[in-house]
Amino acid sequence: MKLLVTGGAGFIGTNFIRYWLRHYSNDAVINLDRLTYAGDLSNLTDIAETHCPKRYKFAHGDILDSTFVEDVLKTEHPDVIVNFAAESHNSRAILHPRRFFETNVMGTQVLLDAARQYGVQRFHHISTCEVYGELPLDSPHTFSESAPYRPQTPYNASKAAADHLVNAYFHSFGMPITISNCANNYGPYQHPEKLIPLFTTNAIQNLPLTLYQSSHNRREWLHVEDHCRAIAAVIERGKIGETYNVGSGIEKSIEEISDFILDTLGKPQQLKTYVPDRPGHDCRYLLDSQKITHEVGWEPRIPFEEGMRETIRWYVENKEWWQAIQQKVDDGVVQEDKWETFTRR
Ligand SMILES: NC(=O)c1ccc[n+]([C@@H]2O[C@H](COP(=O)([O-])OP(=O)(O)OC[C@H]3O[C@@H](n4cnc5c(N)ncnc54)[C@H](O)[C@@H]3O)[C@@H](O)[C@H]2O)c1
Repeated sequence: MKLLVTGGAGFIGTNFIRYWLRHYSNDAVINLDRLTYAGDLSNLTDIAETHCPKRYKFAHGDILDSTFVEDVLKTEHPDVIVNFAAESHNSRAILHPRRFFETNVMGTQVLLDAARQYGVQRFHHISTCEVYGELPLDSPHTFSESAPYRPQTPYNASKAAADHLVNAYFHSFGMPITISNCANNYGPYQHPEKLIPLFTTNAIQNLPLTLYQSSHNRREWLHVEDHCRAIAAVIERGKIGETYNVGSGIEKSIEEISDFILDTLGKPQQLKTYVPDRPGHDCRYLLDSQKITHEVGWEPRIPFEEGMRETIRWYVENKEWWQAIQQKVDDGVVQEDKWETFTRR
């Protein structure tokens, strides 16, 4: 089988390409990526050296560029498209929402049209738990796949819109789609602007960990390797036209995450500083993941403490990787301690 993976130079895409090539030894992967600030081709240098061009190829370009996307499909004839490509950082979406709608919605539409034109056998779309909106901290409820979509941030709204679009191509055109909506991921190769890498790399450097004031807000955490295994399971055994939630049931507050990182690295509590919440900072998300367990036979395997310790160790051992990213010229960097100066117009 041949897979076209979009956004394969980003965090989850990189881990997914590694996972797929390791577990499916007859398959080939084309990585289509625009290499935004979030994409880093060096994540896959060893893969390219070992597998290029027979089992791995890179196609540099934008999912918004229909001519480029069609050319790749015409040349490569992939059986499956896995769409990871997205603008993915909530904080950046508050400051620059437009790019999120362009890439996440219009880019998905370009891919769907091309997939339709070239008869791709499966379009698997990667989405997020955040499309369902937030849960109160004391709520006994979880979000199942039939929960209404109530996105509250520009990032979440763009992902929700893309999910609707993917479903519409199933209903209107019979496009063979599946969607997975995943909880917060952690693991190696995550950009140092995201919570766990940000706190880990700051703690390593004895820099402040900037916790939003609502530091008891919780997230559900899943190791990226478990996510990759879930996507593979849905591609193999998922039912066409269906959406699958992918969660671990493990909830941790931002306060608990920062304490875990400080304890593991032997750093003082005094590194914690409290800053105003980002606008639209959701309280909590928690998925009901029974459907993927019962229908597809997937369950998370990596215990949270073990996965976190390994992840923290990875950032300790790969300083050059994240320092190189931090040194890149990037005019979108968000100052997480400056939200009080943000005006809601
Ligand atoms: N990280 C999480 O916790 C999480 C959880 C649930 C769902 N998701 C979803 O998973 C997907 C991947 O997330 P991630 O954390 O790996 O993101 P990421 O920001 O690390 O990577 C995104 C990748 O997409 C590429 N890209 C961006 N715009 C592009 C464009 N127009 N054309 C081609 N490539 C483009 C970037 O260069 C980058 O390599 C996203 O769709 C995200 O919404 C992420």
